[in-house]
Amino acid sequence: MGKGGCGIFAYVNHGVGRSQRFIVDALVTGLRRLEYRGYDSAGLSLDRVPSLKAASTGSNGHGAGHGGAGQGGSAPLVFRATGKVDALVACVESTGPTSGLAWEVELDFHAGIAHTRWATHGPPLPKNAHPHVSDSGHAFVVVHNGIITNHAPLREMLQRHGFVFESDTDTEVIPKLAKYLYDSFPPTPDNSPRLSFLQLVQLVVRELDGAYALIFKSSHYPGELVAAKRGSPLLLAIRDPAAADAATAAAAAAAGEHLQQRSNSSGGSGGAATGAADGVLATADSHDRPAMTQRPRPGKRRRADQIEFFLASDASAVIEHTKKVVVLEDDDCVHLAGGSYAVYRLQRGGPPAADGAPAPASAFLSGDGADAHGGVLLNPPATVHRVIQTLELEVEQIMRGKWDHFMAKEIHEQPDSLRQTMRGRVISPGPACPAGRIQLGGISGFVGAIRRSRRIMFIACGSSFHGCLAVRPLVEELTELPVQLELASDFLDRRCPVFRGDTCVFVSQSGETADTLRALEYAKSAGALCVGVVNAVGSAIARATDCGIHINAGAEIGVASTKAYTSQIVSLVMMALLLSEDSASKATRRAEIIAALQTLPDAVADVLRLDAQIRVLATSLVKEQSMLVFGRGWNYATALEAALKVKEVALMHSEGILAGEMKHGPLALVDASLPLLCVATSDGHLAKMESVCEQLRARGGRIILMVDDARGRLAQAAGSTPDGASRVLVVPRTVDCLQSVVNAVPLQLLAYHLTVLRGHNVDRACPRPSVLPPCLHALLRFYLTRMTMPHAEPRNLAKSVTVE
Ligand code: AGP
Repeated sequence: MGKGGCGIFAYVNHGVGRSQRFIVDALVTGLRRLEYRGYDSAGLSLDRVPSLKAASTGSNGHGAGHGGAGQGGSAPLVFRATGKVDALVACVESTGPTSGLAWEVELDFHAGIAHTRWATHGPPLPKNAHPHVSDSGHAFVVVHNGIITNHAPLREMLQRHGFVFESDTDTEVIPKLAKYLYDSFPPTPDNSPRLSFLQLVQLVVRELDGAYALIFKSSHYPGELVAAKRGSPLLLAIRDPAAADAATAAAAAAAGEHLQQRSNSSGGSGGAATGAADGVLATADSHDRPAMTQRPRPGKRRRADQIEFFLASDASAVIEHTKKVVVLEDDDCVHLAGGSYAVYRLQRGGPPAADGAPAPASAFLSGDGADAHGGVLLNPPATVHRVIQTLELEVEQIMRGKWDHFMAKEIHEQPDSLRQTMRGRVISPGPACPAGRIQLGGISGFVGAIRRSRRIMFIACGSSFHGCLAVRPLVEELTELPVQLELASDFLDRRCPVFRGDTCVFVSQSGETADTLRALEYAKSAGALCVGVVNAVGSAIARATDCGIHINAGAEIGVASTKAYTSQIVSLVMMALLLSEDSASKATRRAEIIAALQTLPDAVADVLRLDAQIRVLATSLVKEQSMLVFGRGWNYATALEAALKVKEVALMHSEGILAGEMKHGPLALVDASLPLLCVATSDGHLAKMESVCEQLRARGGRIILMVDDARGRLAQAAGSTPDGASRVLVVPRTVDCLQSVVNAVPLQLLAYHLTVLRGHNVDRACPRPSVLPPCLHALLRFYLTRMTMPHAEPRNLAKSVTVE
């Protein structure tokens, strides 16, 4: 049923000859880039060769080739498989040629769609994988990321009308509803559809409650796709082959004029919609150091003879093809046809009744069909202008390079990602400013308003919440404002009181986390000043906040947050410094922190040298069932974050515990069998931490220490494990409020090595069948495709959790 972080992808080639092998490869590669969002099943749909010939030999224009399409052998092919994208590839390779796929046949015009799924409900079985279809003839084929909350009544209605459902998903109502509505409007005498594909999708989407990014494909509209978005991310990417092949930037820029947006006769940009677009751009501009630049609005309107389009859940899936993207807004609908695209604004609610009042949402599902709604259908929605933006993401950022796993790559990238986060923002001391200063363009206009707040609330989930926890003491110290931390889901569950005088800071790597996004909407409606601290540029949270800081850690692909976490801490530290800039009493402290920020990447590079030692430590822990991590003060967050990492990727129980709470219950668990990791680096709480360690040791606890002083009392008493692994991790020392950045890194490495040693998939945290001998591998695949095996399913979060 619901999907947490599925990925959807589409590839359209127009006037560019592409073999079916190329098209399948393009779809599969797109899915691989999105696999971190979901990976329990995957699917794709493309056309059979005969239907494409019919489409491509007709007019190339929008709506051409309708006649006769959808009949006989024109049903799109659909391939679905349980497991990762590799399983889908195997399925297409083995069944494609007998199903109508002709690898080497070149198609000048084609529209294919694909999906990778992460299910929160319903087993990952082929029948639940996307694309979902309307009927055995595949008249409509749909991929979906999100959740349709009113799928049950829609399913009942469609079943009453004779539709037979094959899956347990909410999505399947969508293609079936499309067919039901299409069939309600019989074709014209010359057998053309009475509705455009756009109009049809508009009618379908009106009936859907919940969140979605949807792509529709249909045998009735060959070569066309329609996509719609509400609440789940979606972008359109445009590749002009001529521009891509041009040798010079100037040629590329000139060719960019081909990338035109269609406009319908209803009059170009609608007022409200245009306003929304401007709002988005204003927001993007207001965050400093945006990772996208924007193209000027195109002046001419014409179709390109040769063009390729991509639709994707995020930029990592398109960056190897093009950097030109249009980020879609909620209620946008994109129609790709005849080598051009148009973005429309969809209206929520049912079609207007005669008196102008909105009709009940499902009024036209009564079976009255065209008579009741023909008037509405003749009025397509207004187009809206969306600026083509240029991604400043590099392909290397989304490739593993020399690393075995993205998690390893991203852990080791941290010296650079931290430099990137601080670049141009931490200004070194100089004659004009002896103590140095912080420059954050994205919030500079709001510093006064934030300082005048009655309180600052930090709202986030998971690691992002831990990032806030790590910096809370510093924000309190430097701003002297009350600071409240909120897990987004709890904040929403409690309907936490929020007031106009509050500043709410939303911290998120992806910028799409549903709980955080809903909390943002809630805080906005209460009139709070909303600040985003987000890694993914152009994401929903980045766009919806009043101002913000881009974390600038670079693309993070591994499911575990690593470099984004440390860059979040640094971003929030910079924010605290900026907010206290006027305070003379804090000047010395600020100067100390600014100096430490400048050497922080080197300290992180130093701590990464512990990698080999940590691997040995992980080997000594690999068979453990559980581990406790103790920290306090500046490192309470470190303890929680370390435990989350171990749980999430190593699939081993672990709890982060505030050391001050040790005597209030957790002590009862301590004996010689349970590993206890104690973060005891030097800060104002060290003496208390030492005392906790002594009490744990007195109970026979197996302590592993993290210290910054190898000659300190604790380190001297630590000893080593029976197999010789040192029980002491000595990390470089930095200023107290940044020590959590340094300390997080070895614990990320520990989680990483534990995961590899335990035979799990690091980047996705599911058991890795490839470590099995081939016969067991085959057996496991057999069971995976036939039954639900709870221990063999992905058990961790998807990278981006886009449903609550
Ligand atoms: C961290 O390793 C996790 N993947 C998870 O806790 C994550 O931090 C959380 O889901 C929030 O995601 P966000 O930062 O993208 O909002």
